[in-house]
Amino acid sequence: MIMKKILIIGALGQIGSELTMELRKLYGGENVIASDKRNTASEKLLNSGPFETVDIIDKNSIISLIKKYNVNTIIDLAAILSATGEQNPMLAWNVNINGLINVLEIAREYKIKQVLVPSSIAVFGPGTPTDCAPQETVLKPTTMYGITKVAGELIGDYYVKKYNLDVRGLRYPGIISNETLPGGGTTDYAVAIYYDAVKYGKYTCFVKEDTRLPMMYMPDCLKATIDLFNADPSKLIHHSDFNVGAMSFSVKEMAENIKKYLPNFTIDYKPDFRQAIADSWPKAVDDSAARKEWGWKPAYDLDSMTQDMLKVISEKHKKGLI
Ligand code: NAD
Ligand code: SER
Repeated sequence: MIMKKILIIGALGQIGSELTMELRKLYGGENVIASDKRNTASEKLLNSGPFETVDIIDKNSIISLIKKYNVNTIIDLAAILSATGEQNPMLAWNVNINGLINVLEIAREYKIKQVLVPSSIAVFGPGTPTDCAPQETVLKPTTMYGITKVAGELIGDYYVKKYNLDVRGLRYPGIISNETLPGGGTTDYAVAIYYDAVKYGKYTCFVKEDTRLPMMYMPDCLKATIDLFNADPSKLIHHSDFNVGAMSFSVKEMAENIKKYLPNFTIDYKPDFRQAIADSWPKAVDDSAARKEWGWKPAYDLDSMTQDMLKVISEKHKKGLI
């Protein structure tokens, strides 16, 4: 078996900062090259393996890393998320689509073995069943981010069919974590609520209390990503667009769950432009294809996640880190 040499683009973001460390544990620090447009890598990341600055829009900056490190696998996490994407739609198109095309073309030209690029629940929109989005359904998103994610899935599948390139992707729900703050999405409230609960005992939420979306805790996100990454290709019917579910709850249910552990916690609501984005997404997803094709099974529910989030964030707060 050929040793994986993985280039992660967008490695300093919410998911990349944790996925890089997890992959370095599995494949060795020197075999996982972290890269990002920003040059703000943590000591932890810098001390555990290579870090390079790269702009996914600049094809040559990626090619030089492919050659320098003999890369055979690319994970593309560089993206402009839903809320920031509505402030700057052309930037979202450029990074999410032109950046991805750069990656896929380089993969084809340099005989890269595998490309992994996440999609999102943002592919859904009006016309998708709202209670539980099926794997195969209407994909008519209303955000530029969602449009780029639908196009990204289609382009990924095109490279599978046309060039026999191994492209894989999964539609992450909102990801909740405590290492790196989220980067400008609509589901950011589900992270901010924990930080503000610990720091201030109260939170002002930018979506209404009955807003209910699919969510996933970071340990499950890492597991889903690595399980799909290593899945037997002969078992995959889908490629770039797996629904993956874990939990689904309203903001009110989250707040009540936090109150179990912080009884004085209070929440109020000031919905902004992100409410319309949240309202365009389904409440849950049907992930039976991921369960069947590569054995997907989440571990965390709302209560076990809340306990862990409050424990980790409280420790950080006591140490003055947040
Ligand atoms: P993030 O915004 O936290 O991180 C993205 C990273 O990409 C940042 O570090 C940023 O500096 C980098 N980047 C931006 N432009 C770049 C460029 N031109 N060149 C190189 N790097 C660039 O995002 P994330 O939450 O870690 O998301 C990773 C992937 O997962 C994305 O494809 C995103 O759409 C998808 N996703 C995330 C979530 C979530 O809740 N976090 C949910 C669904 C899908
Ligand atoms: N968390 C992401 C967002 O809200 C979903 O893709 O943009």
